[in-house]
Amino acid sequence: MRAALQVLARERGPVAALQLAGAAHPELRPSAVVQPDRGLRLGLKAPDWDGSQTFEEVHLLATPNREETLAYLALARRTGRPVYLCCENRLGADGWRKRLKPLDSVSLQHCRLLRLDPQLLPEQGDPLELRRVEDFLSCPGLFSWDRFDPGSRLLLEFIAGELPGRGADLGCGPGLLARALLPRGCAQLDLVDVDQRAVRAALLNCNQDVRCRGLWLDLTQEAPPGNYDWVTLNPPFHGQGQEQRALGVALLTRASSALRRGGTLWMVANEHLPYHEVLDELRLQAIEVRQQRGYKLWRCRKNA
Ligand SMILES: C[S@@+](CC[C@H](N)C(=O)[O-])C[C@H]1O[C@@H](n2cnc3c(N)ncnc32)[C@H](O)[C@@H]1O
Repeated sequence: MRAALQVLARERGPVAALQLAGAAHPELRPSAVVQPDRGLRLGLKAPDWDGSQTFEEVHLLATPNREETLAYLALARRTGRPVYLCCENRLGADGWRKRLKPLDSVSLQHCRLLRLDPQLLPEQGDPLELRRVEDFLSCPGLFSWDRFDPGSRLLLEFIAGELPGRGADLGCGPGLLARALLPRGCAQLDLVDVDQRAVRAALLNCNQDVRCRGLWLDLTQEAPPGNYDWVTLNPPFHGQGQEQRALGVALLTRASSALRRGGTLWMVANEHLPYHEVLDELRLQAIEVRQQRGYKLWRCRKNA
């Protein structure tokens, strides 16, 4: 469990609060939440904030993206209630302390908990709002939110030909790969991501094409419909080492189960990640593998 959440629980639980960008903790009792990450949202036993719930204060966990945290702070300002921002030191807690001029600040468990006057918080921003970047919609906090990820770009070149039948882009992000794949003869394309904003952006970036379906799923806990002719996957990587590999393997396992027999997996990942070690046990047979600019690209067939 994240240290910042433990600090909030220890210092502010169980005050009735609006919880922003947070997760479930037995000591916290949020009256409403804003959490677009489905994995974290599933554990929260509180309604989405619709502006009508009452609460004494706002709890906010700083996210790794500064612009995203600023947008959450702007949202918090609109409540007019005292705001408690908890930030891990590794995410720049001291910078936030200097910038936000808190009424109070405590340092605990490699985190800083700041008590903030809502009137001194930024006025502009909404973490759920999509904004235009060049010719697509996205928002801070999404993976590679303001540019086409170089790994996905390589995957697009690697796929080269047509992609007929039913497909899915697992971990679609803002949908730039999906948008480029659609004209390749797809009959149906499922856009799947753990982040609600990514699913919405991907659908819009694919011009709400009738062949597209957005699915807000945590693929470590939930399965897409399956029986796909093909799946594209650029597995998420966060943190280092085991954690990074485990999340990627969980999505790869999901991709394999979602493919029909004989279906094709198209995957790109950083070349040092040892996904080749699990292909056999997932009944995926590598047909073509390419190494390029620090990435590894695979075309695999799903065997019986
Ligand atoms: C490396 S990014 C690739 C994004 C996108 N395909 C692109 O090229 O920009 C991995 C994506 O997986 C999503 N993701 C991470 N964990 C997930 C999970 N448990 N279930 C579903 N999607 C997840 C992330 O939100 C992110 O959009």
